[in-house]
Amino acid sequence: MSENVEIDEEEAERVLKGINIPPHPFILQDIAEVYPDIVRVAAIIIKDPSVAGAIIKVVNSAAFSLAREIESVQDAVTLLGVDSVLNVVNAVLLKNSFLDTVDMKALEAFWNASDDDAVVAAFLAKEMKLCKPDLAYMIGLFHDCGIPLIMQKNQKYLDVLHKIYNQNQHGFTVVENHLFKTNHTVSGYFLAKSWKLPKVVCEVIKQHHNVDYINEHFSGQRSEFASLMAIEKMAEEITCEYKTIGNSKVSHEWPLIKENLFEYLGICELDFDELREKAVETMQAS
Ligand SMILES: [Fe+2]
Ligand SMILES: [Fe+2]
Repeated sequence: MSENVEIDEEEAERVLKGINIPPHPFILQDIAEVYPDIVRVAAIIIKDPSVAGAIIKVVNSAAFSLAREIESVQDAVTLLGVDSVLNVVNAVLLKNSFLDTVDMKALEAFWNASDDDAVVAAFLAKEMKLCKPDLAYMIGLFHDCGIPLIMQKNQKYLDVLHKIYNQNQHGFTVVENHLFKTNHTVSGYFLAKSWKLPKVVCEVIKQHHNVDYINEHFSGQRSEFASLMAIEKMAEEITCEYKTIGNSKVSHEWPLIKENLFEYLGICELDFDELREKAVETMQAS
């Protein structure tokens, strides 16, 4: 699994033609105009009750484990800050953005897996004090958003994914590049970029199956990128993504990064087992 997975951006943009990148939602464009005015940002969100309700639900979920329940968007903004609330807004809008372009029923297991991944990532971020939970939550939800994107073009993509998860001969994206001339990391990266998500989020999406690149960063200094990547890879393992999305009994990727990840975080297998137990409890409670 050590093949080079880099794909030239211009080449990727060309092959992404035919894939419909959902537009940056209007509400986020409106918010961008008044940002960072907390009162006006909250006022725009409140105008859309479904978004406001979803934010309150996510922020009150076990993933964020706040000391007290919030009752309004204003509460959320005051408690978490405007940037964190915007991360949650992006996250809750992602699924809706695909409603008209993909078979949502076929993707049910995928969305459930992404929801669980987001909750576990937020929990790990908070428990290990690695970064703000909303950023980890956003990465959990968005990291595989290239999957529904490629599904728009290839109805059989989920079957192909099962085959990819079940083999250990080639890197994840190498197989996708070969079959589709694109892959879910680079297409997800373009969605994240066009939605103007934080740069570090875009980078984690782009590299999240690039084993060599990940190991290189786990062997270096602490960085926001490496910490978020560590959170995301642990969340994939804890939520058994290889099973839920990949229909595989084991993860072939986890053993290739595990040692370096543990060393980066200064934890051992036992620590990880403990974290896994707590994270699963959190996931079941949300
Ligand atoms: Fe992935
Ligand atoms: Fe994933």
